[in-house]
Amino acid sequence: MLDKKRIEKYLKASIFGEYLYVFDEIESTNDHAKKLAAEGAPEGTVVLADYQKAGRGRQGRRWSSAAGKNILMSVILRPQLQVETVQRITLATADILIQSLEKYFEKERYKSPEFVVKWPNDILVGPEKLAGILTESSIRDKRIEYAVVGLGINVNQPAEELRKDVEEPLTSLCDLTQCEHDREKLIARLLNDLEDHYYYIERTNYDSVIEDWKKHCHQFGNEIIIETAVGIEEAKFRDVNAKGLLVYECPDGTVKELIAGRVRR
Ligand code: BTN
Repeated sequence: MLDKKRIEKYLKASIFGEYLYVFDEIESTNDHAKKLAAEGAPEGTVVLADYQKAGRGRQGRRWSSAAGKNILMSVILRPQLQVETVQRITLATADILIQSLEKYFEKERYKSPEFVVKWPNDILVGPEKLAGILTESSIRDKRIEYAVVGLGINVNQPAEELRKDVEEPLTSLCDLTQCEHDREKLIARLLNDLEDHYYYIERTNYDSVIEDWKKHCHQFGNEIIIETAVGIEEAKFRDVNAKGLLVYECPDGTVKELIAGRVRR
């Protein structure tokens, strides 16, 4: 089970993780973090769990993870961002997570694979998903009151086992390196990296985020399938705009931005 004291031992960050809640079992770390945020918990408050009874992914999907194997973490942010650019938070987190994983692989001398992002929130190695990010925010008076960034990272559960619950191709750190990983150390590293980068990003109003995120994305020009409330359409992945929204081209040449919907493929 996760050892809070060991996480704190490796933690260098002063704000991210200062308030750290660790549960053996919870419904969803995002739900608990949202409750704490609504009650006034400060930025950088972290909720972790060994097991989620109702772990959630994007678009109402389930996020499954065996007890004590993976990283299930939610962080409360209070960003000074315009509401319409809230998507930048997810992109920034994906970028920081990739950089953190790259540094970890280098430090531990594992052969580093190429980590890529799939719009907007999946971290993949090749076609296989390693981690996902679910950002949920509360808007008040046209300002972001808080955002909860939830991270699910497959660590010590082999993909073969994870795949029993999910149809999409998956991978985990233990599959990539053929060994188990110290979750407490990884969590602390990630929180340290989040704190290091977050305040820089925040000061620049997240301006560098889109360009940095694009460096890890291989989807430009790809044929994709867009699923929205009005239906399904084939399209081409064109760009990600300053708001962090996907820009796609329809078969008739019209260019649209995806405000709410899902990308298949
Ligand atoms: C996705 O890829 O669809 C996003 C998955 C996010 C899963 C994490 S696990 C910790 C946090 N709590 C949740 O219920 N979901 C997020």
